[in-house]
Amino acid sequence: MSGLVIYGSYGYTGDLIAKAAVEYGLDPVLAGRERRTLESQADRLNCEFEVASLGEPDLLDMLLDDATAVLNCAGPFSRTWEPMVEACLRTGTHYLDITGELTVFEAIHRQDDRAEDAGVMLLPGVGFDVVPTDCLAAHLADRMPDAATLELAFRAENGVSRGTAKTMVEHLDGGGAVRRDGHIEDVPFAHESRTVDFGWGLDGQHVATIPWGDVSTAYHTTGIPNVTTYMAMPERAVRIQRAAGLVAPLLSLSPVRTGLQWLIGQTTDGPDAGERETGESHVWGEVRNAEGERAVSRLRGPHTYALTVETALSAAERALAGNAPAGYQTPAGAYGPELILDVEGVEREDVV
Ligand SMILES: NC(=O)c1ccc[n+]([C@@H]2O[C@H](COP(=O)([O-])OP(=O)(O)OC[C@H]3O[C@@H](n4cnc5c(N)ncnc54)[C@H](OP(=O)(O)O)[C@@H]3O)[C@@H](O)[C@H]2O)c1
Repeated sequence: MSGLVIYGSYGYTGDLIAKAAVEYGLDPVLAGRERRTLESQADRLNCEFEVASLGEPDLLDMLLDDATAVLNCAGPFSRTWEPMVEACLRTGTHYLDITGELTVFEAIHRQDDRAEDAGVMLLPGVGFDVVPTDCLAAHLADRMPDAATLELAFRAENGVSRGTAKTMVEHLDGGGAVRRDGHIEDVPFAHESRTVDFGWGLDGQHVATIPWGDVSTAYHTTGIPNVTTYMAMPERAVRIQRAAGLVAPLLSLSPVRTGLQWLIGQTTDGPDAGERETGESHVWGEVRNAEGERAVSRLRGPHTYALTVETALSAAERALAGNAPAGYQTPAGAYGPELILDVEGVEREDVV
């Protein structure tokens, strides 16, 4: 029996991760709730598989009984983290996932004491959300230990997968969020915008605030009390985002949400192999202290989904090797700011 279980292995991202895990010789057990899809994936990848739905605690316990770590790829994670974390706490299995959902990070953070008591690591967010941003935040905090504010921005190319789009719909009515004086505050959609220089030219790139997972995680990693996160988007898209805030109450209606998710299920595929090979991702970060001094660094790396595969498996390999500090962890909190530099093709630059 392998030490690694990949749950939700036959989704778009789960399958990319499962294929790479096999290539890297990790011999994962594939798991999920749909027997037929799992069977054919396991056959294709020559792996063991186990069927277990999240509503069956006994089956989840059997699935995890001999495992060292589970990598949960079944999202939206607001619907999946809890039964899997509970099973991990019962069976003494390390938990990793690829969530980017702010509320999920905070909910898992609240299990810190229980995880420490169980000797279990809870490490959500080992994909593009939030490994590069979290590592850049930790690097900037090292550069400026008295930083009082942190701003992070990212730019991703070439589309999203079905599950990511569904997860975005899941949180459409949640508005935005920033961290102020150590507390998470609700703010409107895209309430602030600015330009940042991702590394190509003085005109910079237009970015607007989104409630990225780092509003939770960067604080736990660095202790910096004020955190704002931005995503690159053209000014026209910012206007649309702000208008979407006006219809947010409508989006919270379950039939509207279900309808949108059905539509995504019918129409969204996800980036193809060519896009994943050629696309790039960019992360920019800035810290300031009370004296107004600043430090700016940025990262450039592979396509977000290619990066997610590498960061998720890099973290999982560490956990399998016994490098799994007990309790709630962030990626850079557990493995340091250099974790991201292990990924081939990632470059970091200190600008100011
Ligand atoms: N951190 C990152 O950078 C990053 C990168 C990529 C994706 N993601 C996130 O990862 C998640 C998956 O994305 P994706 O594009 O791979 O989605 P996808 O293709 O729709 O796959 C989702 C997988 O999760 C399973 N699943 C969903 N709800 C479940 C539940 N309640 N119980 C059991 N299994 C469940 C699905 O199984 P069924 O088909 O049986 O429903 C499927 O195997 C999304 O939340 C996305 O936002 C994060």
